[in-house]
Amino acid sequence: MSSTSRSRNLKQGRGKVIAIVAAAGSGSRYGSALPKQFVSVGGKSPLKRSVELLASVEEVDRIVCVIPDGFEAIYEVARCSAEQGKLLKPVAGGRSRGESVRLALEAIAEHSPEYVLVHDAARCFCPQTVVANVVSALISGESAVVPAVEPVDSMRLQGCSVNRGLLRAVQTPQGFRYNVLRALHEKYKDFELSDDATLCDIDNIPVCIVSGDAANKKLTHKNDAGYAATHRVGFGYDAHRFSRDPSRKLRLMGIEIPGHRGLEGVSDADAGIHSIVDAILGALGRGSIGEHFPESAPAHQGADSRIFLKYCRELMVNCNADVVNIDATIVCESPNIATYAAAMKSEIAKGLLMDDRAVNVKGKTTEGMGFEGRREGISAYSVVTLRIIE
Ligand code: CTP
Ligand code: MG
Repeated sequence: MSSTSRSRNLKQGRGKVIAIVAAAGSGSRYGSALPKQFVSVGGKSPLKRSVELLASVEEVDRIVCVIPDGFEAIYEVARCSAEQGKLLKPVAGGRSRGESVRLALEAIAEHSPEYVLVHDAARCFCPQTVVANVVSALISGESAVVPAVEPVDSMRLQGCSVNRGLLRAVQTPQGFRYNVLRALHEKYKDFELSDDATLCDIDNIPVCIVSGDAANKKLTHKNDAGYAATHRVGFGYDAHRFSRDPSRKLRLMGIEIPGHRGLEGVSDADAGIHSIVDAILGALGRGSIGEHFPESAPAHQGADSRIFLKYCRELMVNCNADVVNIDATIVCESPNIATYAAAMKSEIAKGLLMDDRAVNVKGKTTEGMGFEGRREGISAYSVVTLRIIE
């Protein structure tokens, strides 16, 4: 059946369907500066994705978002432009998910809905078909409907394996006759439950299960947004000449190389780290090291270049980015880079809080050609891949 004819059939004689988007949580496990429903995931906030999804389902007449108190301005920015006039004023949520849903149920009473869908903003990749499955079951007479999937992992309970064919992982949107859910939330006020159908179980109201979808994942931890990530590559280069000042130490990739002439520069002239920093800034589209650390700044006179790695780390946290891998080449006649490569790898990995195995450092000579070959200086090239959740 086409979605238009399905919807025409469903519309005949049915009452109003209002969808509540639960988006009043703090997203503490996700760990972003803003609650997870407002951050950008693949270029769009989960809240916006959820509203867009619900608005695109013809049977959904109105949508209301429950948001944290004080987040009205951020909500205005994040809210969906493709909501087709279905969006009602947001409602301020409560301390628990249950309280947030109860407050939304109260707020929509004036619209006299017959059915209500409750959807977690955090389940922002929900396919349209899941919403339609729930609405169809409601309209065909069910009082409570949940979409669910069979777990794919083997399951154990208290030391025993459990037949996973008997289990279901429950998703949202969950659908209810409005009066049924409203009464349950009033009766079991502010129960700390992770979904609404659990209230039906307490009162012996049968819950109908319809097909959910494996794609309908909930964003709980940052890694859950992994499949919405994009990868960006950055390239960095730096070169410094050897210094005539015998007191300058040679530092490459954060490692001091004893008994070798040092390089000339404002900071410690660690060309290796500078090339990595430029590669990271390149992948983030944030210019170059000189723009972030002007040579004139007194704080950078003689600075240990590892502070630039720390700076990049903080920048990456703010941009929801992390390093997938780094490949660096240091070009010089001496020192012999292979002797120090392992220490350099772990110093870089430590500075960026990443796994050593994702860092590669190698040396190259130029058979006497060019400034490196004439032992006038050292150059370094780096390629960095970042994973960015936009
Ligand atoms: N939610 C809500 N009101 C609350 C708590 C949660 O509306 N007081 C919403 C969340 O915004 C989310 C959904 O309920 O869309 C599911 O909750 P969960 O994934 O647990 O989100 P948070 O509670 O925000 O995250 P955490 O538990 O990690 O703090
Ligand atoms: Mg929670």
